[in-house]
Amino acid sequence: MDMQAIPVGTAIAIVSTAVAISVGLFFWFFRRGHVSHPNHLPPVPEVPGVPVLGNLLQLKEKKPYMTFTKWAETYGPIYSIRTGATSMVVISSNAIAKEALVTRFSSISTRKLSKALEVLTANKTMVAMSDYNDYHKTVKRHILTAVLGPNTQKKHRVHRDIMMENLSKELHTFVQNSPQQEVNLRKIFQSELFGLAMRQTMGKDVESIYVEDLGTTMNRDEIFQVLVVDPMMGAIEVDWRDFFPYLKWVPNRKFENTIQQMYTRREAVMKALIQEHRKRIASGENLNSYIDYLLSEAQTLTEKQLLMSLWEPIIESSDTTMVTTEWAMYELAKNPKIQDHLYREIQRVCGSDKITEENLGQLPYLSAIFHETLRRHGPVPIIPLRYVHEDTELGGYHVPAGTEIAVNIYGCNMEKAVWENPEEWNPERFVAEGVQSLDLQRTMAFGGGKRVCAGSLQAMLTACIGIGRMVQEFEWKLKDEAAQEDVNTLGLTTQKLHPLLAIISPRK
Ligand code: HEM
Repeated sequence: MDMQAIPVGTAIAIVSTAVAISVGLFFWFFRRGHVSHPNHLPPVPEVPGVPVLGNLLQLKEKKPYMTFTKWAETYGPIYSIRTGATSMVVISSNAIAKEALVTRFSSISTRKLSKALEVLTANKTMVAMSDYNDYHKTVKRHILTAVLGPNTQKKHRVHRDIMMENLSKELHTFVQNSPQQEVNLRKIFQSELFGLAMRQTMGKDVESIYVEDLGTTMNRDEIFQVLVVDPMMGAIEVDWRDFFPYLKWVPNRKFENTIQQMYTRREAVMKALIQEHRKRIASGENLNSYIDYLLSEAQTLTEKQLLMSLWEPIIESSDTTMVTTEWAMYELAKNPKIQDHLYREIQRVCGSDKITEENLGQLPYLSAIFHETLRRHGPVPIIPLRYVHEDTELGGYHVPAGTEIAVNIYGCNMEKAVWENPEEWNPERFVAEGVQSLDLQRTMAFGGGKRVCAGSLQAMLTACIGIGRMVQEFEWKLKDEAAQEDVNTLGLTTQKLHPLLAIISPRK
């Protein structure tokens, strides 16, 4: 190789990388021999990896929960891996997950964010991504008081009713205009959920907006792209420096530009929306919405905190519930007997009336379908990484400060000791238990302990009424045989890789 041809910057980077790798190797060998702990508990069993990279090469795909679950069969319900320079403990058992989320919470209450998430969450300025601190407690109180708590969910009922009427209308219009064509439920349901999110957060759905900072007018699809689709994809972008903190000084411009652009565009659109609604409120038009509440009750929030607080329920409302509902409708279309059982239950309880939230307590089969879908296809497969900030123990092992914790929800919900034939989607398992829809902790899908999902009630109400209404009004069939086995996933949440395409026929 002609060394003269290598630019000085690149040469420095290569030499420094080599030095860093040697340092990494040294620490790796040192760590392996170092096993004695003050509390005399054994270290967590390790999955063998290679020097420096650890187990990174075994986790190349962007859905590690499958690999984590496979490893649990060999290495047990708790094991440790190395992602570059960092040590991570992976938990795939219900009992140890509860120990981590509840009993040992005080030692594992901070978060470890990737570079992409650090930028997109404006450095933890969100309820779901912050550490457990005063900021978290304040913004969580706001979001529960004005959007997600049981009393406020009652006030937002009107928005969910509008959503269900729109959903029904859109499906009927589709069948009239395109009989025997397959419907793409995702497109319709996602758009309606976004409408619900905008009405709860801003008081109104949005058609278009002039975004001053970008000098352009955006339509509703473009706004959805910037506020929801781009950040969801950005969140799984991998920056190799996440795994080698000692190399964080090496630039990674392409990655930085992509994420920064997502941040800037989202900020510009949110600023435009906030400005428009500030004008509405100043003109005396008050609505039942989060922005109305925050501008009057949370004046100590900075502009950035206000922006992030308003964006949070928009992104959280628009994705996970759609993923759950699409999987449920896929399973119902694939299993006509179960669909028919659900239809008969709804007929028995509701007669010729439309299903409403008041009926949910009398529809145990619908509730079983919701829980079984969350178990088998839970939209959040791994809890956003936690960080051990003081030495602790889990499952009888010593876990040192500085370790990352990955609670593999998918693995917990597939644990053979807890669930019979876990691969099977079988709502009967919950009917036998008599689980009601309001018992939202029956699976690990919503997490647990102090950081349990704050939006589980909204998710349950929207998904259950959506599924109930769609089965009450239409018979669902899969497009063809090929669609039967199509269970691949994509993205941060476990979205179906290929959207459900179903033929729907209105019920007589
Ligand atoms: C089926 C749908 C949903 C599932 C499976 C789900 C799951 C989860 C999970 C696993 C967590 C993390 C818990 C942890 O870190 O320990 C979480 C947190 C959270 N979720 Fe959900 N979620 C869903 C829907 C929603 C919706 C619709 C909203 C709001 C509109 C929402 C708002 C939140 C918030 C604010 C947190 C943070 C709670 C905290 O850290 O104190 N979620 N969710």
